[in-house]
Amino acid sequence: MTSMTSNKKLLEWVKSMAELCEPDAIHWCDGSQEEYDRLCDLMVKQGTFIKLNEEKRPNSYLCRSHPDDVARVEDRTFICTRRPEDAGPTNNWVDPVEMKATLTKLFKGSMRGRTMYVIPFSMGPLGSDIAHIGVELTDSPYVVVNMRIMTRMGKAVLDVLGDDGDFVPCLHSVGAPLKPGEKDVPWPCNPQHKYIVHFPEEKAIWSYGSGYGGNALLGKKCFALRIASYMGREQGWRSEHMLIVGFESPEGEKTYVAAAFPSACGKTNLAMLIPPEHYRKQGWKVWTVGDDIAWIKPGKDGRLYAINPEAGFFGVAPGTSMESNRNAMLSIRAKSIFTNCALTPDGDVWWEGMTEEPPEKLIDWRGQEWTPDCGRPAAHPNARFTAPISQCPVVDPAWDDPQGVPISAFIFGGRRAHNVPLVFEAYNWGHGVYLGATMGSETTAAAAGAVGRVRRDPFAMLPFAGYHMGDYFAHWLSMRKRVADPPRFFHVNWFRKNDEGKIVWPGFGDNMRVMKWIVDRCHGRVGAVETPLGWMPKPGDLDLEGLTDFTAEDLEWVQSIDREDWKKEAHEQDELFIRLYDRLPKDLLFERELLISRL
Ligand code: OXD
Ligand code: MN
Repeated sequence: MTSMTSNKKLLEWVKSMAELCEPDAIHWCDGSQEEYDRLCDLMVKQGTFIKLNEEKRPNSYLCRSHPDDVARVEDRTFICTRRPEDAGPTNNWVDPVEMKATLTKLFKGSMRGRTMYVIPFSMGPLGSDIAHIGVELTDSPYVVVNMRIMTRMGKAVLDVLGDDGDFVPCLHSVGAPLKPGEKDVPWPCNPQHKYIVHFPEEKAIWSYGSGYGGNALLGKKCFALRIASYMGREQGWRSEHMLIVGFESPEGEKTYVAAAFPSACGKTNLAMLIPPEHYRKQGWKVWTVGDDIAWIKPGKDGRLYAINPEAGFFGVAPGTSMESNRNAMLSIRAKSIFTNCALTPDGDVWWEGMTEEPPEKLIDWRGQEWTPDCGRPAAHPNARFTAPISQCPVVDPAWDDPQGVPISAFIFGGRRAHNVPLVFEAYNWGHGVYLGATMGSETTAAAAGAVGRVRRDPFAMLPFAGYHMGDYFAHWLSMRKRVADPPRFFHVNWFRKNDEGKIVWPGFGDNMRVMKWIVDRCHGRVGAVETPLGWMPKPGDLDLEGLTDFTAEDLEWVQSIDREDWKKEAHEQDELFIRLYDRLPKDLLFERELLISRL
């Protein structure tokens, strides 16, 4: 197929990358339904996709990855700035010249026997002044169809790019060239070499060897977080690992908040929260703008505006059910791609937690027969669904608005069994940045590695900041000067456990009660109690109406502060600060001193 652009930079780049990768063919993606269907059919024929039952799950497919290619590979992710100190101690760094040499060798001939797809995509509404364009070259049709759901993709993007528009070049290969006549496997990837590489100064991404999720769908973590965070610092905006959600009061007042949680901490849940019945009866509504990433820019009116750079959900499937997240389940009822889920005998998908009783028989994510007593999970813990955000029943009418939505609050949270109260509010911007900088969470399955230990994950950006984390904090502090009407900052923890090891707060839809307090605080409608950690709800201000298993005493308990434990916590927070010390803004040390003296 011929190219669909006369953009010189793009044409030259595609030409030189094709010379390097030596694909059999080049296909310029137009983003049409016809193209999507054709590639899905192709993958069905190749054994990569299984078409699901048309009645149960229309226009949907199941895909099983290679068992060694199931999650983001953080230890193979690199930030290649010219100087190592600009990447900072929390990123893997290699000299860019050396890395280019290594990658050039690997990419040489890497697409032989395959087609190179050219995917023009926009992160954010087409033409929005908060949006940016990227072009991904990939030899994976799985990437193409996922990118069509996750981004605005195809011909329309090239029209916006025009003849001289700029874009972020994203090169991707699964790293599995085919010899003439060699039969392909369902999930090609490279067993020895995986490299997810960012060149922030050049604003380029090279990804080799993996076909999975954030390793391969380069618009998501690589561009929208790592490269965009770097661009945001240069240009005075922010790219954050945050969901965006709007709360509409019975009077029609809409309050948008952006919230950062480390991977798989109920983020999708908050993004699509269903309020308890009495809120719904009163007329409260919750609207989804985004479930994972926010690009945030100061507006002319002195407020911060956010867009969701993505157009789809790439959500963790296990644990998602009609009870835990009805809106997510409805979003994936059709036109979705399921990766590493189990297959039911009638051609639908299943995963742990979808139903209380597991089906009697399944084919598991590795393609083997599965029964409930076989001792193996049916779906991989990091199994995913890809679905268009437009299918979400509560998608905000403004989700595609080029202007974005005004943000009234930033919320931070994590999975913390001990110490951390249900909710508190920062005293001011500097204190809020401190709360983000000291976030911690118990680890989950979204990234490869140990599950269950607490790791410091500032702003949930530890694996996603494209530059030194100390500079990242400084950029957060400096943003205060750019906004006349700043959002407030809050910290929440849905996961505090009692002495019996039971999580005390009911969570899920009941998180609305906490959100209502946050919304009221944003509008100055409720007072608060001063504590060493920050402002907390006054007794009686946090709505407990209709809760059967959670009393006022429980609330007092989940809000309680053990001063000795908190002194230890402050001490532990120092560990990361010491690692970042050479570029740590001293304001944060001052915030820590204030916390300790309040304790
Ligand atoms: C994700 C993640 O996939 O944060 O969203 O790991
Ligand atoms: Mn994420």
